[in-house]
Amino acid sequence: MACGAMLGGMAPRVAEPIKVGHYGSMTGSEATFGQSTDKGIRLAIEEINAKGGINGRPIELITYDTKGDSGEAGKAVTRLISSDKVVAVLGEVASSLSIAGGAVCQQYGVPMITPSSTNPRVTMGKDYVFRVCFTDDFQAFALAKFVKENLKLDKAGILYDQKQAYSKGLRDEFTKAFKKMGGSIVIDQAYSGGDQDFSAQLSAIAAAAPDVLLVPGYYTDGAAIAIQARKKGIKVPLLGGDGWDSEQLGKIAGDAIVGSYYSNHSAPDQPDMKDFVDKYQKKYGQMPDALGGLGYDAANLLADALRKAASLGGKDVRDVLAGTSGFPGVTGSITIDKNRNASKAAVIVQMAKTEKGDVQPKYVASVAPDAAGEKK
Ligand code: PHE
Repeated sequence: MACGAMLGGMAPRVAEPIKVGHYGSMTGSEATFGQSTDKGIRLAIEEINAKGGINGRPIELITYDTKGDSGEAGKAVTRLISSDKVVAVLGEVASSLSIAGGAVCQQYGVPMITPSSTNPRVTMGKDYVFRVCFTDDFQAFALAKFVKENLKLDKAGILYDQKQAYSKGLRDEFTKAFKKMGGSIVIDQAYSGGDQDFSAQLSAIAAAAPDVLLVPGYYTDGAAIAIQARKKGIKVPLLGGDGWDSEQLGKIAGDAIVGSYYSNHSAPDQPDMKDFVDKYQKKYGQMPDALGGLGYDAANLLADALRKAASLGGKDVRDVLAGTSGFPGVTGSITIDKNRNASKAAVIVQMAKTEKGDVQPKYVASVAPDAAGEKK
């Protein structure tokens, strides 16, 4: 029997995919940010599609590389919206790039969820832009509290990246929070992302002799700074924010970063991450960093909203996202507040050597989101 002939004009219709965009740094000095996020997003979409997609329609993900550049980020989002006609956008990781991409989403009325950009300005005044992570006022509070209460240290130095909204914001907020807790900033220095030589700043820092050095930048610079700081005889622990989160940090810095701490959204050795970590490891053969989990959560939250929305139009999807309450993410429960931010716990991890000799983060402490309540 000729099946083809018989089916003729009544071939079963293949459901048309729903297009979703992702813009991220797949290459460049923040390459692991985009790569890990994309892996998390794709894992979620694979599961969503295996369960019938969005009311029978599969999600199709289109990813563009921003190369870690704000101009490229804006272009990528414009292309996703104008040429590919995506219904929503996921990304970026770096706050400066999300600020650029978010402006485009807002202009076109297309919802955007950043999995991981923490600078307050990312969502500010943009009612189409959401995030599923905490913001840097909280992250800075968590770091300051950890230094004061756990490490019991009072004198901090800072070396931040003046080119990144994230780095400058975290430096400003940490300064405020730490001073309020009775700490002092004994030296405050700046660099520009991609710099190779930090010796002038590190000499000034060595002379000021802080108890701890905050380096709120991204991992490539963080690793280089750690190596050069040790060569200058600076022995105190370095302190980073979530921007340090990359397997590259330990690989590049090695012993220079052992004993240092950073704040993050999750730690792979947290017990409640186990299911997700197992799935991710099975698919990709590596441990997820926090970005894998955040990308996974952002994609699942979006799928949930697409399912519930009255239509796939930007405004309808936006309205559902704005009402998100208690959504169960692998990185914690997600409730979107009136400023389109989530409030979640921060974890502090310490870089340590494994038995195999790799340098990896280990969970040390958590700071609950309401711990900052007294501060506000
Ligand atoms: N929070 C950083 C920013 O806003 C990005 C980041 C998040 C990097 C999580 C690593 C892990 O720029």
